[in-house]
Amino acid sequence: MLNTTDLFSLQGRTALITGGSRGIGRMIAEGFLAAGARVYISARKAAACDETAKELSALGHCISLPSDVSTLDGAKALVAAYGKHEASLDILVNNAGAAWGAAFDDFPESGWDKVVDLNMKTPFFLTQALAPALRAAANAHGGSSPAKVINIASIDGVSVNPMETYSYAASKAGLIHLTRRMALRLAPENIVVSAIAPGAFASDMNKDARDHADAVAQRIPSRRIGTTEDMAGAAIFLASRAGDYVVGSTLVVDGGVTHARS
Ligand SMILES: NC(=O)c1ccc[n+]([C@@H]2O[C@H](COP(=O)([O-])OP(=O)(O)OC[C@H]3O[C@@H](n4cnc5c(N)ncnc54)[C@H](OP(=O)(O)O)[C@@H]3O)[C@@H](O)[C@H]2O)c1
Repeated sequence: MLNTTDLFSLQGRTALITGGSRGIGRMIAEGFLAAGARVYISARKAAACDETAKELSALGHCISLPSDVSTLDGAKALVAAYGKHEASLDILVNNAGAAWGAAFDDFPESGWDKVVDLNMKTPFFLTQALAPALRAAANAHGGSSPAKVINIASIDGVSVNPMETYSYAASKAGLIHLTRRMALRLAPENIVVSAIAPGAFASDMNKDARDHADAVAQRIPSRRIGTTEDMAGAAIFLASRAGDYVVGSTLVVDGGVTHARS
């Protein structure tokens, strides 16, 4: 008899979520805590990250590990801080991201460097730096359950958003392909890499969805923006045993926007 509670449970698992202090990262942290995981969240602003961890501690074990993961040194500092708490890592969520909008003729080099570094380079190097901890989790209990890496991409990497966010769109398309490439490399080591491509979720980055949800909803086939349950549900699915066979794929969670765009 299939036990669906067990299938979707994260009981006894550890999770590290970059950009977990607010927005989509916080939604995922809430979901993982509700599913029983020990959760570590990271962001640059220490006070905000600490405050979120304090609030989420009402749901379970949640620790703040502030760090700027846009540089290799920052990523390594986060790995060292995490290593003081746990010897292995079951679930890494590469969620921290940045966007940049500017007209084609004026688009600056800094708008490429910042966005591509954080959205595409960081998921690679943070996963590389955490590989020993992920391998330790993948090999625990005789390798019965894989470790997970979940990259937070965007529907803008799947279909074309008419906004002039050139580096963002390219970085997210790159992250979706990087997800496939890394998945093939790591699957034989019992580490499953997948991605989520969110549509419109209220956040500081998506101020339109946050401040004008009703207007944004009119452009979405589901006629609403995404909720914490929508994001948490997708992330719990991929992170839990239920998602063990989803390898290198990107789960689109957008109320149908990409189908309407194409
Ligand atoms: N919201 C949407 O509709 C939507 C749609 C598609 C995809 N996404 C993707 O979802 C992810 C989260 O976006 P969001 O909307 O939740 O954005 P957000 O509200 O701006 O949150 C971004 C999070 O990342 C952290 N962060 C930013 N730069 C960082 C750095 N260099 N090092 C460490 N942490 C950093 C932020 O905290 P600090 O500022 O303190 O560092 C914050 O916790 C991004 O990858 C984004 O591209 C969002």
